[in-house]
Parts: sequence; structure tokens; C-alpha cells
Amino acid sequence: MKDIKKAASIIQNGGLVAFPTETVYGLGADACSQSACLKIFEAKGRPSNNPLIVHVASLQDAKNIVQFNDNAVKLASLWPGPLTLVLPKKDNAELAQCVTAGLNTVAIRIPADSVALSLIKASGRAIAAPSANKSGTLSSTNYEHVKKNFGDEIFILTSNSQSAYGLESTIIDLTSSVPTILRFGFITPCTLEKLLGKKVEIASKLSEIKAPGMLLKHYSPKTKLRLKVESLRSSEVGLNFGNSQLNVVGSMNLSLNADTIEAAANLFDYLHVLDEFCLKNNIDSIAVADIPNMGIGLAINDRLARAAE
Ligand code: TXA
Ligand code: MG
Repeated sequence: MKDIKKAASIIQNGGLVAFPTETVYGLGADACSQSACLKIFEAKGRPSNNPLIVHVASLQDAKNIVQFNDNAVKLASLWPGPLTLVLPKKDNAELAQCVTAGLNTVAIRIPADSVALSLIKASGRAIAAPSANKSGTLSSTNYEHVKKNFGDEIFILTSNSQSAYGLESTIIDLTSSVPTILRFGFITPCTLEKLLGKKVEIASKLSEIKAPGMLLKHYSPKTKLRLKVESLRSSEVGLNFGNSQLNVVGSMNLSLNADTIEAAANLFDYLHVLDEFCLKNNIDSIAVADIPNMGIGLAINDRLARAAE
């Protein structure tokens, strides 16, 4: 509680706070303050054309910032939770210009994590927050990952546990009549289609890039990744799934039970661990077993493909 008070006061005074969410850790600032939000871009080394997600604590707060439509009403039933809606910005919304990178749309969500919600409520601000990692590198799913990225530069709120889902929120663009998934996440296309009562599109990698986070290279460890591997080569360590047998000293298994929910929660942490192991032991690459490309597997494979670029 003391930490939440301190963190809230840092936000109110234009500073940065790293905080846990149910997806990954966020690096937050007062979304209405241009100078505070610019510090996020500086700390991450983030290109200024890459807009930030705005985090709020209630539906009403979201409605003060973006224009809701029928699709948004349906999908907001998943809030608080790991779903980000892209909607038209309200004319009178007081967001800092750099948060939207000059776009007339806003990516917004209500996080489910109790520490994140307490921070937003205690600060009384909407909080702009990208993932708490240097631009292009692996996301952070625990305190140590954030610390590795930012050292003592930034105040970090802790959580009792690892991020519950371990993958960034699903992002869906609701600004046109055809809802379009901009980033896969824990909320699957199937769940979204059921709630919307219609098909959703998946933004093509080759089409106009709406979310710069969709740029192919992203989430990268320093060590090379090789995907859909059936047998290990020399100077590799294995990242297994289910009963795959990429076994050598240092190898890990995302989920012995071949459970994609468990695999997603472990993904970034295991990549952090294996990256350090490879760097320390002069191992050339991380060989990743095949993971079924359905449901949450879509999001896992999306992150792996970008990490391997
Ligand atoms: O789970 C998450 O979403 C985490 C936690 C902290 O909430 N945040 C996160 O933020 O992953 P970040 O910055 O790593 O990814 C945000 C993505 C970027 O790809 C950005 O381009 C996209 O959201 N984005 C932000 N505003 C947008 C907008 N108005 N239109 C389209 N894409 C947008
Ligand atoms: Mg990110």
C-alpha cells in the first residue's frame, strides 16, 4: 500500500513507474502529460511514431477518452482484462500528443491486475504504458526482467507472482465496420467473433502497418532463434513444448502437458533465461519446438516469429 502511494505520487509528479499487469509489466506515465510521456519514449529508446496504450480503471474513464460504438460495447465486456480496443479519440480528450503519435485513434484497456488497478485509481490519472522493456527486446514478465532493462533508474511496483498471462494484450481495431486484430494475444479470434457475432479480420503483415509494434522484428533476445525444430544441431539449446525432445544441458520445456496457456505464461521468462545461458556459455542459438498454431498458440507463434527475425 505504501508503495502504491509512492508510485501514484511519482505519476502525479510527471515521473515513470513500472508496474505489473496480468499480461506483461508496463512502463507508465500520466497519459495527459506530454513531458511525462516523452520520458517513456526516451527510457525505452522507442520510435516516436509508435503510439502507447492508455490504461484506465473504469468504463466511464474509457468513454471520456474514446468514442464507443456497438462493437466496443460488446468487447468491453471482457474488461478488466487482456484486450486493447483501438477507437476514435474524443475531440475533448486531454491526452498528450505523443501518446497517440499524432493519430486520431487511441488504444485503450482496463487491466485486470490488482496492483495496476490500484495504481491507476490512486494516481487519479489515465496511465499511458508500453511494455517495460527496451524497444525491440523481450518483454518483462517479472520484477527481475524490468530491473535488467532499467536498473535503478525507475521505480518498480512488484507483484506476488509472475504475470498471469505472460503475453501482451490482444489488440483489435474497431474504428471501421470490419473489426481487425492488430496483435494476437490471450483473447483469441474465436472468443472475439463469438462476442461480436461476426467475423474479424487479421491485419496482414504486408498491409499498411497500423501498429508499429507489428513491425516484424520485435521481442528479440540477443541469441538467434530457430523455430519448429525437430532435432538439435550443435551449439544449440532447446525450448521444448509437450513431448518434444530437444534435450541438452540447459534445455527447458514451456509446458510438459502441451498446455498453451502455461506455455504463454512461461514464454518470455524462459527466453530471458535461455538467452543469458547461451551468452554465458557461448551457445549459438535457441532451438524452439513446434507449437500448434491455434488459439493462444497463434499469439505464442507470432511472438516467436518476430523474435526470430
Ligand atoms: O498487454 C499490453 O498491451 C501491455 C501492457 C503494459 O498493457 N502493453 C503493451 O504496450 O504491450 P506496447 O507499447 O508494447 O504495445 C502497444 C502496441 C504497439 O504495437 C502500438 O503500435 C499499438 O499498441 N498501438 C498503440 N496505439 C495505437 C493506435 N492508436 N492504433 C493502432 N495501434 C496502436
Ligand atoms: Mg512492447
